[in-house]
Amino acid sequence: MPELTAPEPDSTVSPADAAVQHPYNAVSGPKRVRTRHFQNAKTQGIPITGLTSYDMLTAQIFDEAGIDFLLVGDSAGNNVFGYETTLPVTVDELIPLTRAVARAVTRALVVADMPFGSYEIGPGQALATAVRFMKEAQAHAVKLEGGQRSHKQIRRIVSAGIPVMGHVGFTPQSEHGLGGHIIQGRGNAADELIADALAVQDAGAFAVVLEMVPASVAARVTQRLSIPTIGVGAGPSVDGQLLVWTDFAGMTSGRVPKFVRQYADVRAVLTDAVQRFTADVAAGAYPAPEHSYE
Ligand code: KIV
Repeated sequence: MPELTAPEPDSTVSPADAAVQHPYNAVSGPKRVRTRHFQNAKTQGIPITGLTSYDMLTAQIFDEAGIDFLLVGDSAGNNVFGYETTLPVTVDELIPLTRAVARAVTRALVVADMPFGSYEIGPGQALATAVRFMKEAQAHAVKLEGGQRSHKQIRRIVSAGIPVMGHVGFTPQSEHGLGGHIIQGRGNAADELIADALAVQDAGAFAVVLEMVPASVAARVTQRLSIPTIGVGAGPSVDGQLLVWTDFAGMTSGRVPKFVRQYADVRAVLTDAVQRFTADVAAGAYPAPEHSYE
């Protein structure tokens, strides 16, 4: 059984070597990432990594590559179902995607995103939704948006033994209320954002996502909180980083947010493959004899 706590950080190890020796990677990390490993990571200064995933194949690839957690985000509303925002996506739409991701992984912690309308009415509704994700989709944790306004919901879910990841800063489900995709916590709003993050922690969440927040404010939140902060456009001074996989892999068409680094150009690879396939078929070059049965 591999060690479940990370070894002491070795100050003689270069950042490149440290990446290879990452105590949470697929080779040397825990067999299964649990919420307590998030806490260990914060305590020991080991960055946590997360990606969204909405299907079995990407979940398998990301898990085998050593990602710490997978979020079955309500961004599936845009990236799977083609809605303009995350608002229309439903629990019934997200459950089969979450089940596929949970079945695919052997190591990563799978977090199910609770969609708009599935928890706002009150703690009872929130718990009922969380139970569906745990029971019907075999998620390992749930995520919901909102700080102080979601305190009661988070507390109720946690009291039932279900781990909760909070989400403050820019919360896409409130984009109409917030007036668009706007960076949160600037200027005087920083104190309110910190209060939101503290409320999430007080309610019992094991981690909190900070989305589109100035780096200096995210650093303050990370210092104030004992639970790990996971940044999405929150700069480097957080305990972990999360990206939407379709952005990070270059699948998204059009503009991606400034904070995204594109690690692959999968859209170009697939476009090229389709163009070569159609050209081969048009030219009679595919199928070749080796692709045909006797
Ligand atoms: O649904 C999602 O992808 C998210 C992340 C952007 C935090 O909630």
